[in-house]
Amino acid sequence: MERLKIDLIAAARPNFMKVAPLYHVLDEEPWCSLRLVHTGQHYDRNMSEAFFRDLGLPSPDLHLGVGSGSHAEQTANVMLAYERACDDQPPDLIVVVGDVNSTLACTLVGSKLHIPVAHLEAGLRSRDRRMPEEINRLVTDTLADILWTPSPDGDENLAAEGVPPEKVTRVGNIMIDSYELMRERIEASGERRKLGLKDHRYAVVTLHRPSNVDAEGPLTTLVRRLAGIAAKLPLVFPVHPRTRKSLEAFGLWEGLSGAPGMQIVEPLGYVDFMNLVCGARLVITDSGGVQEETTYLGIPCLTLRTTTERPVTISEGTNRLVAAGELVPAVDEILAGGGARGRRPDLWDGHTAARVAADIRRRLVAAPGRDAEVPDVPETPVRRAVSNS
Ligand code: UD1
Ligand code: UDP
Repeated sequence: MERLKIDLIAAARPNFMKVAPLYHVLDEEPWCSLRLVHTGQHYDRNMSEAFFRDLGLPSPDLHLGVGSGSHAEQTANVMLAYERACDDQPPDLIVVVGDVNSTLACTLVGSKLHIPVAHLEAGLRSRDRRMPEEINRLVTDTLADILWTPSPDGDENLAAEGVPPEKVTRVGNIMIDSYELMRERIEASGERRKLGLKDHRYAVVTLHRPSNVDAEGPLTTLVRRLAGIAAKLPLVFPVHPRTRKSLEAFGLWEGLSGAPGMQIVEPLGYVDFMNLVCGARLVITDSGGVQEETTYLGIPCLTLRTTTERPVTISEGTNRLVAAGELVPAVDEILAGGGARGRRPDLWDGHTAARVAADIRRRLVAAPGRDAEVPDVPETPVRRAVSNS
């Protein structure tokens, strides 16, 4: 039987924990062969390589080395490089994840070359088209041939946009697979001890959305609020490179890093970062993935945004959207015992990668013209590869 050739596209920090569980599950399957493609959108060691190591991923089979640039430059450079890669060795299926510029770029390339594209984490919508990710989600989902959604709102959004239901399979949340895959390592990481943090007596902060960090006014306001909070609840803040650039450019770095109770650190690897999150009293963020991880872990999350593309983290989870002006009272409320309790959404269970593999097999391998003899999908996340790494 000829193996189905699958390209797995990884590009930026939040992609790696979506690609890794799928890589490990598919790597066990005799009916497919994988090409791991890194576009190079993120390239600092602590934004890229550290995640490959943590998540037990091998070096990419193909590194496009695209790097940073304006939206058009970055998207176009990924398209140019990936089109060449597809011309050289055309895959039978391209799997893109999330909502970054590389997700959009590789989807466009595949669609124009008539190569089927599958989108993992499809159907999410913030309904805010000023977010570059919302444009990426809309175009990717319009073009993709297979759409894997994490939650019912994803199915509903796609149906409302006219996506035929047979293209959509709800598979659950792949981020939770990564957490479950790495749980023992996360618990064993000494990161919060290393930083001198006492369990449930500190908060974690992450910020990188352009709406919060690109302009001086909003970032200055946030820095003041965070410094105020740090005086009563120690804060640990792994600073994203986009945010660092702005803090330095606006002369905010010294004030923030010198604020009592504030620990500024470099971006952390997945295992150490999740070790911090697991012990935190609460999390303050504008990240997409962190909203989901805190919901899964039952940790209160204050999201500094006006919208979220992940509404189940509010309706079922521990998330709350806050404006900068609401941050201090929202923290006080949680410290006083308030805040959402939440529950884990359906199919956020660590088995999403196995469901994705089963769906690929059902759609593309067991289809007429291909050999239907394929083994069962494993019931549990594949731990071997990561525990050996
Ligand atoms: C990108 C994604 C965003 C995602 C985020 C996760 C898009 C449009 N944005 O935002 O959806 O939430 O990644 O972290 O795809 N930089 C470095 N080193 C790196 C990477 C970036 O210094 O390894 C700096 C560069 O100055 C770069 C800037 O960060 O210009 C922004 O990087 P970019 O990938 O364009 O966007 P992110 O803000 O990281
Ligand atoms: N993360 C990490 N180290 C950090 C900050 C975040 O490992 O210093 C992880 C986090 O646990 C989550 C993912 O990165 O799994 C989210 O990525 P990011 O916030 O950069 O992107 P977004 O989800 O907003 O697109």
